[in-house]
Amino acid sequence: MGDLIREALSIGWPLFALLAGLFVYSLISISDPVAKKRATFKLFIGMMAAFMLLLAIAHYKGSFYEANRMLPVSLVLVTALCFMMGIYFPNHAAMLKIGGFMFLVAAGLSGYGNWLPQVEGGFPPKEEKLDFSSMTAQQLADEGEKIIFGGIGKNKEQGAVGKGQCPLCHAFHAGMLGERAPNLMGLPERAGKDRLADPKYSKGNPQARDYEQKESFPGSGTAETAQEYIAESHSCPSCYVVVGYGVKGTNDKTSPMPPIHKPPISLSLPELAAVDTWLWVREGRDAPSYEEIIKSYEKFIPEADRPKQQEDKPAGAASALLADGTETVDQIFTKAQCIMCHTIPGIPGALGKQGPVLEEGTNAPNRIKDPAYKGTAHSTPEYIMESVVSPSTYVVKGFPDNLMPKVFGQKLSAGALKKIVDYLSQVKAGSPPPKIS
Ligand code: HEC
Ligand code: HEC
Repeated sequence: MGDLIREALSIGWPLFALLAGLFVYSLISISDPVAKKRATFKLFIGMMAAFMLLLAIAHYKGSFYEANRMLPVSLVLVTALCFMMGIYFPNHAAMLKIGGFMFLVAAGLSGYGNWLPQVEGGFPPKEEKLDFSSMTAQQLADEGEKIIFGGIGKNKEQGAVGKGQCPLCHAFHAGMLGERAPNLMGLPERAGKDRLADPKYSKGNPQARDYEQKESFPGSGTAETAQEYIAESHSCPSCYVVVGYGVKGTNDKTSPMPPIHKPPISLSLPELAAVDTWLWVREGRDAPSYEEIIKSYEKFIPEADRPKQQEDKPAGAASALLADGTETVDQIFTKAQCIMCHTIPGIPGALGKQGPVLEEGTNAPNRIKDPAYKGTAHSTPEYIMESVVSPSTYVVKGFPDNLMPKVFGQKLSAGALKKIVDYLSQVKAGSPPPKIS
């Protein structure tokens, strides 16, 4: 609320100052007591009304991205404004009252329209508990597809991302570019053939490995089968790094991929089994059995590190959004993997080097001024929003186009986007980073 008032005053302070000036003037210089009282009263009402109008405008500005959820609130403010202006201009009172009434109706209708689905959303239909262990391979593969892409049949959709977040980095189909991470087409075959045979893999001898992590945990050893290679890749990405895909500057010793049984992705073993089953089945191969897959993960993930499966949540349900906006901003940057590519002052772990340092308080004004800038942003928050939801609108010099995922507009809630924009607009080169709120 404090922010809103500040924003309102920043938009309309000249108007507000003018009215306040007139207010003081009427108090001092009008001598006829009746006229004085009337003028003072009118100006006071005028100031209130102007303030509410500014508040409403500020609200609109601030909640532009929130799917008009705040529309009814702003409309109610305008309604109040109309009635107050009715007192201010008695000659037009009737007209203003009619206007006010119409806004009230509009507010009512849009409020009804907005709240209806939310009420429905408050009572999700009771889902059956999913028992992955008793599914057929195809059913399990379907669950896997939901976890990776967010729904059955979505694997070919551009930008489909599920709870597993893999498509933020990986391509899955032949012919698609794997710039950020290897294309996972053909993985089951190359896992068994090429990877395990790679001299750098050091099958059976973790100590000979030249990677950040020698083995997943002491005594876990190395993969012996294709499925074990996949399990190890998922749970200990830095145990073996595909050539050319390591974190820049580490000489391919460290992988940028997060271990996917750990936060923020936190897939449980049954969920991992579903993901892997999809990787096999979609290529028309026989997947290892559920039990075999689980065993392959138990080899690389110690008991204490195994996340519990949230059985009351269907696999696809959590997949809609990467962050819903209830998180703190550092959690949002982590969940959406921004930290993998960007250095963000003040955000723990945000040390990525594939994208620019996100000092947007400093960068954004310069980008907008760049003659090559063809976007529509006029302010720092607008530029940040545009960069996040439509990264190719302006490509920062010295960085590749199409590296930053284009899915964040769909995969982050309005609230999460707003937190990102608020935070990044306050980050300035050479200043201490803003507080995480
Ligand atoms: C932040 C980006 C990122 C995300 C998210 C990510 N990966 Fe990766 N992944 C990589 C990179 C980079 C590599 C190559 C380096 C390495 O070997 O670890 C890789 C390697 C792999 C490999 C080994 C590939 C090979 O050819 O040997 C597999 C398998 C894999 N990822 C599966 C997944 C799955 C499944 C998910 C989702 C549950 C996922 N990844 C999520 C970046 C990512
Ligand atoms: C896979 C790597 C990658 C990920 C993940 C990624 N970005 Fe980027 N981002 C880039 C690259 C590369 C650029 C520069 C090229 C361009 O402008 O598109 C960039 C540009 C930007 C810019 C414009 C920076 C400037 O100074 O003009 C912003 C803002 C930004 N990213 C925010 C984010 C946020 C927020 C997230 C997470 C929701 C994110 N990025 C995730 C790679 C990434």
